[in-house]
Amino acid sequence: MLAGKKILVGITGSIAAYKSAYLVRLLVKEHAEVKVMMTPAALDFITPLTLSTLSGNPVICEPFDPSEGTWNSHVDLGLWADLIVLAPLTANTMAKMAHGIADNFVLTAFLSARCPVFFAPAMDMDMYKHQATRQNIQKLTGMGCRLIEPQIGELASGLSGEGRMEEPERIVECIRQFFTKGHSLKGKKILVSAGPTHEAIDPVRYVANHSTGTMGFALANEAARRGASVILVAGPSTLSADHPDIDRKDVVTADEMYHECLKHFPSCDIAIMSAAVADFRPSHPEPQKIKKDRASLTITLEPTADILKAMGQIKKTHQYLVGFALETDNELEHAREKLKNKKLNLIVLNSLKESGAGFGFGTNKITLIDETGENREYEAKPKQEVAGDILDWITARITYE
Ligand code: CTP
Repeated sequence: MLAGKKILVGITGSIAAYKSAYLVRLLVKEHAEVKVMMTPAALDFITPLTLSTLSGNPVICEPFDPSEGTWNSHVDLGLWADLIVLAPLTANTMAKMAHGIADNFVLTAFLSARCPVFFAPAMDMDMYKHQATRQNIQKLTGMGCRLIEPQIGELASGLSGEGRMEEPERIVECIRQFFTKGHSLKGKKILVSAGPTHEAIDPVRYVANHSTGTMGFALANEAARRGASVILVAGPSTLSADHPDIDRKDVVTADEMYHECLKHFPSCDIAIMSAAVADFRPSHPEPQKIKKDRASLTITLEPTADILKAMGQIKKTHQYLVGFALETDNELEHAREKLKNKKLNLIVLNSLKESGAGFGFGTNKITLIDETGENREYEAKPKQEVAGDILDWITARITYE
């Protein structure tokens, strides 16, 4: 399955580095071409000789190799790789990656890479739970890196908890799955909406919501990676969508999103509307900044057009239309109603009651409900993996000519 794939394994300074030798061995057994790079701290845990013997390639630890008098180009290596896997990844290197620090070879190669990056953290449970680590993980997954979650178990500290690096067999399985799904949406055109919309009150103020666009961007990235050509209609978001098969259309208001989505929908096979569109907008946005020299201020709001509903009304039978529902009560019942009223094929329900779901989290916990009444509840997982689950569901149900 991995024959000919060029895999760059990055090892950082954790005791779990002893498992990296086995990871390299398993990848080589799958006929992947494997190169290894190590941080200086990793050298305290495992020798380059072990890894070069297993991989059949020299191991790179420094940009300059004084014994050979050669310069190791991080750019060349970053471009060589079809996939980078950082296993184990320490809290320290993770923090540097999240902030673009490049003070060793592994970090410079990470910054130069254009390929997908998987990371398998290994650390003590309190470090893994720390807010700084959580934020760094969120930053990395927001950049499109894929988290291979650590397991709960006995840790090097003697404590027991979450932080044990995932087993090499499972890491290889994640990589294998990643490559096998690479072409499952080839030839399909997918429209994805993402992020919030901003509705002007005056030239400096607006009505908005907490959406960051993470779920929609993850869907766009994952669909493009699986071979689809993607149109991403994005409300204001700081996220970037780097895949060459994503055609990004930036919009600000619900009205702009409506026109952009309806323009592209007729030529699409699949549409996934994950944007948190404003349901109301100020009826009369002020042309000048509103001054505070008044006793009170009342802003009248008017409804925006329901984009998803409009798409449901013009949808052709070969098209697959997906909506999202964010509910706070009677979740399943409300989601089913939305599915029916908006003539959808599938609705993705996330409840604000669930921990690790919704706005601002790197993770989401969803239930999928489709037009036939079939439904499935998933565990909370990183949004990139949630995107994979949604696309797996759709792929199994769309028709291929
Ligand atoms: N949506 C849309 N256009 C709008 C509002 C929502 O296309 N003006 C889409 C969202 O992208 C999402 C779905 O509708 O896929 C559900 O949005 P939600 O706000 O949860 O439901 P509403 O239908 O707006 O109903 P309510 O707010 O009353 O729950």
